Amino acid sequence: MVKQVVTEQDVLVALGRVQEPELHKDLVTLHMIRDLKIEGPQVSFTVVLTTPACPLKSQIEREARQAVAALPGVEAVEVKLDANVPNDGRPRGLIDLPIRNAIAVASGKGGVGKSTVAVNIAVVLAQSGARVGLLDADIYGPNVPTMMGVLKLPAPVGNKLVPAMAYGVKVMSIGFLVKPGQPLIWRGPMLHSAIRQFLSDVDWGELDYLVVDLPPGTGDAALSLAQSLPLSGGVIVTMPQQVSLDDAIRGLEMFRQLDVPIFGVVENMSYLELPDGARMDIFGSGGGERLAAQAGVPFIGAIPIDPAVRTGGDSGEPVVVTQPESAAGRALAHIARDIAAKVSVAAVQQSNIIPINMIG
Ligand SMILES: Nc1ncnc2c1ncn2[C@@H]1O[C@H](COP(=O)(O)OP(=O)(O)OP(=O)(O)O)[C@@H](O)[C@H]1O
Ligand SMILES: [Mg+2]
Repeated sequence: MVKQVVTEQDVLVALGRVQEPELHKDLVTLHMIRDLKIEGPQVSFTVVLTTPACPLKSQIEREARQAVAALPGVEAVEVKLDANVPNDGRPRGLIDLPIRNAIAVASGKGGVGKSTVAVNIAVVLAQSGARVGLLDADIYGPNVPTMMGVLKLPAPVGNKLVPAMAYGVKVMSIGFLVKPGQPLIWRGPMLHSAIRQFLSDVDWGELDYLVVDLPPGTGDAALSLAQSLPLSGGVIVTMPQQVSLDDAIRGLEMFRQLDVPIFGVVENMSYLELPDGARMDIFGSGGGERLAAQAGVPFIGAIPIDPAVRTGGDSGEPVVVTQPESAAGRALAHIARDIAAKVSVAAVQQSNIIPINMIG
């Protein structure tokens, strides 16, 4: 019997049948296959994902491996994973920053957990290997330095501020520039230029994601931000109870008016897990999901109440670092990966370009 020899063409046809589950196209069409090598019956290649935080990483890897392994003449398949986060294609010409995607975290109401969500998703994205910045745009009550456990900035270089580094995330906040407890009173134009300077006068370097923690409410900061830095999309944080939901609707409306795409709704402090495993709905239940359905936007996930989240915020050690396996830690990691996937889908659709260059 003649021994089967596998060709590059055979492998590409096989991989052309493997779908990227969120982009709904195959790996070859999306130019996600790189470094294809065939040595006799051994095939190796790299799958270049659109985010290192891809929630379906292992599924894609498994399906690619199986598709190639099933080819006659193949005895061994080595699949490597890499990632190249696509740029959302929105012109950032005014300030011209090499920031591929910017994600704003907002709510209509204060105290629902915006900063907590922003901090933890930034850390999860950085843990996955992405280049991440965290901009504390809450210029009235900056909490990010405390929550990230960093109190001051490194010395500026030239005429640029250098962000602080914590848990692999580049952090910038007005909190670094004022004395603790000093009231921050801004008039409109000052606020606008402060936010602008956070972008133009800071050496962010290249970023895959800039996560922006907005102040509560639907005021000028969001407007200034949206005008200064085209946002890939916004995330609305709410609590389950009606009054919080009413405010969240205002947050959603704000993004719509600013023409910022909405990635979805996160419900925080959804329930308390009791020692016997039962769930206590302190603030009601299901509100975030209902809100998302009514507004026609995705529901991204729910985070339980967990004292470790609060102590993590106060001590500057985010719960996704100290207790990644807790229910809240897992929920936040899942939310971060889901947002990363949504950013990729939006970026690929928006820019309408193929993420990376073909087989090397
Ligand atoms: N799931 C949770 N479990 C327990 N505590 C939480 C949870 N989420 C947030 N907290 C705590 O609730 C408080 C408010 O959260 P956070 O500061 O993130 O809200 P915020 O919406 O950013 O508030 P502000 O509107 O003042 O900026 C913090 O002390 C935080 O640690
Ligand atoms: Mg906050």
